[in-house]
Amino acid sequence: MLKTNNCIDLSNLTLGKSIILAGWVANRRDHGNLIFLDLRDQSGIAQVVIDADINEELHKMAKSIRNEWVIQISGIIRERPEGSENPKLPTGYVEVITHDLTILNESITPPFEINDDITVDESIRLKYRYLDLRRIRMSNILALRHNVVKFIREFLNKRNFLEIETPILIKSTPEGARDYLVPSRLYPSEFYALPQSPQQLKQLLMVSGIEKYYQIARCFRDEDPRSDRQPEFTQLDLEMSFVEQEDILSLTEELYFNLVKEIVPHKKIVSPFPRITYADAIAKYGTDRPDTRYDLKLHDLTTLLSNSEFNIFKKIINNKGIIRGFTAPNAAHYKRKDIDGLIDFAKTYGSQGLMWIAIDETTSNNIEEDSIRSPIKNHVPFTEILQIASELNANPGDLILIVAGTEKITNLTLSALRAEMANRLDLIDTSVLAFTFVTDFPLFEWDDEIKKWKSLHHPFTSPSDDQLEKLQISPESITSNAYDLVCNGLECAGGSIRISNREMQEKIFEILGYTNQEIQSQFQQLLTAFDYGAPPHGGIAGGIERLVMLLSDTDNIRDVIAFPKTQKFIDPLFESPSKVTQEQLAELHLETIEKDNE
Ligand code: AMO
Repeated sequence: MLKTNNCIDLSNLTLGKSIILAGWVANRRDHGNLIFLDLRDQSGIAQVVIDADINEELHKMAKSIRNEWVIQISGIIRERPEGSENPKLPTGYVEVITHDLTILNESITPPFEINDDITVDESIRLKYRYLDLRRIRMSNILALRHNVVKFIREFLNKRNFLEIETPILIKSTPEGARDYLVPSRLYPSEFYALPQSPQQLKQLLMVSGIEKYYQIARCFRDEDPRSDRQPEFTQLDLEMSFVEQEDILSLTEELYFNLVKEIVPHKKIVSPFPRITYADAIAKYGTDRPDTRYDLKLHDLTTLLSNSEFNIFKKIINNKGIIRGFTAPNAAHYKRKDIDGLIDFAKTYGSQGLMWIAIDETTSNNIEEDSIRSPIKNHVPFTEILQIASELNANPGDLILIVAGTEKITNLTLSALRAEMANRLDLIDTSVLAFTFVTDFPLFEWDDEIKKWKSLHHPFTSPSDDQLEKLQISPESITSNAYDLVCNGLECAGGSIRISNREMQEKIFEILGYTNQEIQSQFQQLLTAFDYGAPPHGGIAGGIERLVMLLSDTDNIRDVIAFPKTQKFIDPLFESPSKVTQEQLAELHLETIEKDNE
């Protein structure tokens, strides 16, 4: 090696020891006879001193050095003189007095300064990702991700799981997104699809008699961008035979709980993980991925206000809409400007608006008519306002927020408002990882656009046993053996106990509106396999990026991926997607249509 130690080792090596370090110059400070270099390697930063009185040649050379040059130094560790220590650095009490220095490579001036406090446009960071990753924060996240995957592998290997790779060039697997397609050169007009997940493959492995499978699997989904989504991402994918839901949930909990304890011991985590049904999650939080670090629970006001004379309430209820709300504690002091901001925020989620009731503090500590400020005050009797306040457990000093409209938009708006208010009111303990299992998902949801039933998870999910007879008659009322693991408002993992026989699987495809021909062309491999005796089986898949996001306190999924795509799914480093040559297209039997000609 061109070095004997890493920079970080300086913090615990004995004084007087000779060492050789190599790395990048993060900073150079010229103090006349003394030149100080901050030397950075993957482990951290060490201060290196070049003294003209010791070696004039070296001092001259050091004068020419600029940031990001790659150098090698040898020297002796010594204590920093009193008053020049840097307690912020782990190596801040020592330095290396240099006896030899070699310039290994020079660097031109980088497009941004390489330190952890930069505020540089992300597209520049991604274009020069190799420089961005030189930052200690970024390499620490990569190391954390490595440790997460290492822990997962060791945990599952100990429990006799087999790690098995499945193909990347495969066929369309319905997971609710569009496929990325790969044209075949040998078979004109035919395509492979990149897997949205290895779902059918892992089920086929169960039919093969592999009883415990896992894989750190790459998945590809062409879906609408979101801050917690990438077009390609990684799952811990696992599947087991001869199991019930409880087996998968307890294994998942043991894995995630122990992983957090080992990798981020400073984080607070509660075990057993609370469990909530899908219906309860929607009722209390308006979403199936609730952030349970704070309260702000939603309450339904539809029944309470069913006889209200207020036009807006009447109209919504007549149109089969809902009225729901929550109390923001100690937020009655909100200024009109702040509330207008909240109303605009609510509208971005499709809601018509936002009703609010501010209850000012009173000397009596009771809610009095004069203490109410609200645009609905002149339309709704005081008794009705009192009833609303009582339903929402609101007290003097609190601000009530109410949304009325369709069920979908009302819940979507309120769940976003809940998170917004928790942020604004500083109600979130960022040291907590609030893992929660969500269970009993509906099997289907109605897609109004295409007028068809859609699987809430995927079509391989089994319905809850006791409801089989309802399948054809009222698909909306059927729950499934599907579960999600959510944490701090993110969906971390999802899975289910699967259907393991042809008859049931075909019935589900039928309800989903697949024709016999579609079933045959898309799913014959799974259905045929079931004919040869499938074991009862189930599994789960966890997003690796989302887990690392939670553990490293970032809400930007790109921070936890070495070479991510932008939010518009572009790679600024390689500039992909990009055009290919006419020869390549011809070889693949493809022609492109330029957008302008469309
Ligand atoms: P699902 O689609 O819920 O289930 O995905 C499992 C987990 O993968 C993560 N995830 C993503 N992460 C980043 N970017 C994306 N675009 C993205 N999409 C999903 C989430 C999610 O919880 N085959 C089933 C699993 C099963 O049934 O066993 C599946 O893929 O953390």
